[in-house]
Parts: sequence; C-alpha cells; structure tokens
Amino acid sequence: MNILILGGGGREHSLAWAVLQNPKCDRLVVAPGNAGIAAIAECAALDIEDGGAVVGFAEAESIDFVIVGPEAPLAAGVADRLRDAGVLVFGPSQAAAQLEASKAFTKSVCDVAGAPTAAYGHFTEANAAKAYVSAQGAPIVVKADGLAAGKGVIIAETVADAHAAIDDMFGGAFGGAGAEVVIEEFMEGEEASFFVLCDGTEVLPIGTAQDHKRVGEGDTGPNTGGMGAYTPAPVLTDTVAERALSEIIRPTMAEMAARGMPYQGVLYAGLMIQDGAPRLVEYNVRFGDPECQVLMMRLGAQALDLMHAAAEGRLNTAQVNWADDHAITVVMAADGYPGSYDKGAVIGGLDALPETSSQMVFHAGTTAQDGKITASGGRVLNATARGPSLRAAADAAYAMVDAIDFPGGFCRRDIGWRALD
Ligand code: AMP
Ligand code: GLY
Repeated sequence: MNILILGGGGREHSLAWAVLQNPKCDRLVVAPGNAGIAAIAECAALDIEDGGAVVGFAEAESIDFVIVGPEAPLAAGVADRLRDAGVLVFGPSQAAAQLEASKAFTKSVCDVAGAPTAAYGHFTEANAAKAYVSAQGAPIVVKADGLAAGKGVIIAETVADAHAAIDDMFGGAFGGAGAEVVIEEFMEGEEASFFVLCDGTEVLPIGTAQDHKRVGEGDTGPNTGGMGAYTPAPVLTDTVAERALSEIIRPTMAEMAARGMPYQGVLYAGLMIQDGAPRLVEYNVRFGDPECQVLMMRLGAQALDLMHAAAEGRLNTAQVNWADDHAITVVMAADGYPGSYDKGAVIGGLDALPETSSQMVFHAGTTAQDGKITASGGRVLNATARGPSLRAAADAAYAMVDAIDFPGGFCRRDIGWRALD
C-alpha cells in the first residue's frame, strides 16, 4: 500500500512511526512532515487544506490510502474530495467533522441522542447570552462556537467575567469562530479522553488517555495544546468506558447516521467523570496531540490495520491486541509557549538516544538545517516511552528528556501525576 499522511506534528510523527512498522506499507509520504518525520519517511510540500491539491498529489503518486492527522483539512472537506476521487481515506466528511467544528451542532446531536453533557444555551447576540448567564450564575463556561485552536473556551468564575468573555467573543476576539456562542454549565469531575474508531456503523475502542492542558506544574498557568499525556487513564475504568459507549458514543454515531452524515475515522471524546458517571465535554474528529503519541506507542503496527478497517467499513471484524503496559509522553516546548517564543535553537543529544518499540522522541516543531535539528515551533519534541508500569514508562521518558540538550526549552516534570500519586 502507498500511504499518505497529512500533517506535520508529533501526532503525525507517531502515526508515521506506527504505520512504517506494518509490512503492508510499501511507501509512506507525509505532507508537510517535520525534521523527525523526514528521517523515517518521504516528506512533500503540499497545502493540506486544499482538497484539489491533495487529490492531485494522491493521483500523481498512486496513493492507495490517506490518513488525515489534523482537524483543519477535515473541516475544509479534504476527505470528501478524496472519496469523490475514489481515494480511500481515514477521516470524517466535512459534514461529520462538525462534531468538532461546531459546538452548537454537537450539542444538538447530543440532545437528540440523549447523551449526557452540560446544560447549555446557544446565542447569536450578546444581550440574550448575558441574560442567560445572569439567570444561571457562576461558575459558568463561555465557548466560541467554531474552531479556535483550543483557545475559544473561557471558564468564568464570576458573572462579570462571563459577561466580559461574551463581549470579547461577539467583539471578534476569536474571529469568525466567535460569531456564535455556546454557554455551558460548569461540570465538576475528572477529565479523561476516550478514543474510538468508527466506520459509519461500528465503534471500536482503541484506548484512553489523560492530557495535561495547562503549561505549568500542578496544572497551573494558561492552557496549551497539551504538555504531556499517558495511557491508559485509570479513571476511565471498563465500567465507565462501557457507559460512555452505550450512553454517549453509540447514540451519537446512530444520530449522525440518521442525519445522513455517517461518521468514519477516529472519534476523540473528552469526558468529565464524576462518581463513575461520564458526561461529554467535547468531541474532536482526529487523534489528540500528544495523546496520539502514547496510543501509537501501545498499538504499534496494528494501528494501520485498524485505520484501514475503519476506512473500508470492516470494523466488525477488527480487533485490538493489547499488551498489559503503559505509555507516557513528555512535551518539550520553547520558553514562552503558549505565548510568543524564540525559534532556531539548535537541539543536541538526539542522535545518542536509542529508538526502539518502547522508546521514541517524536518531533513536533523541528526543522533540519545543515545537518542539525533546530526548534521551529512552540511544542518541539515529545519524549515518549512504554513500560510495564506508568512509573517505569515515566522514568524512561524523563531519562530521554534529561539526555536532550534544548537551550531555551522546558517541560513539565509532573506528567502523569494523577495516576502516579
Ligand atoms: P475544549 O476546548 O472544549 O476542549 O475545552 C477546554 C477545556 O475547558 C476542557 O478540556 C475542560 O477542561 C474545560 N471545559 C470545557 N467545557 C467545560 C464544562 N462545561 N465544564 C467544565 N470544564 C469545561
Ligand atoms: N491535546 C488536546 C488535543 O489534541 O485537542
């Protein structure tokens, strides 16, 4: 099989790494890729949100299977263009990608599906939104409806803060994403992520994880794309997972099919778990980054077979083979992230690190220059390890971090704390 992966972050490096372990992969191209991906696969410069360009590339290069990493090409309809052209693709249609691209859409699907989630109101102007907040009281959550790169959610501790957030959103602070606003009940509990593959009909769980969204140790400071993750997440017990499947995910899939927009790809359900009861925080229509890195470390070569089965509608015959182990990834970021940060630092020590089936440094924002690896993004490297216990995996990941010389870089030292305590 000739395979094309769209994307160029740590998520896509781990996808490429897993896909390459499978003998069914004859050739792998990643667009646009990064310096770490370039060391293991061909990289191609391609505008991955331009469906015509992606189809043209796939046809010219005889690509048999496309795996879409990030949400933006999905929301732009790139998977639809590929399917129209007869190219097999892993990833939902533009219509189905609304599960991530529109919070109001997801809320309406949950209403019909009876899926437990936060009570909410949906508004297109500020006065009605503020009146709703005043009636509900604080804490309360104000969300821009559309894609806002993870920044369109404000947890307001007071009614005044919520009113200010509403003014910001309708004032254009999040561009078009904030033209409509969803206001939600603040849910208490412990958050965890549940990943399932879907083929339009069948649902196959492929792992649980916990992310660390805040930049600082002890979950302090501003939100980021994620500073580290581990799998499995103990809070998502088999019983909680079964409830999430039967009460939230399967009813959502059935409602999507009933709407004529069957969901195919990976569905990432962000759950809030309290007293053993899961409620939906949000859906994403792609793998999490960095959650994908730990899932791929545990799945390895079978990840390709599973994604291929989802794309071909064969999940009813697919099965996941689990080793009884744990994986963790620690994000190394550039000082200043998630605010402004410097680029260009030369990173040392990578060559001396072993690359094995239980230990990998996945690259995110890196560039190769004159034989050197330089930092070119906010999140730069993901030190990722697998072990018989989470403690063993964490020790191995931090040993890699300590062997890497990244001037002007930092990481959180407490990744996994909830499960390690
Ligand atoms: P999102 O961008 O939708 O992932 O939201 C970012 C984060 O805000 C989530 O991961 C949660 O930690 C938090 N959050 C979002 N909605 C709620 C809610 N209704 N109640 C409590 N926390 C929430
Ligand atoms: N790590 C969170 C996300 O990918 O949305």
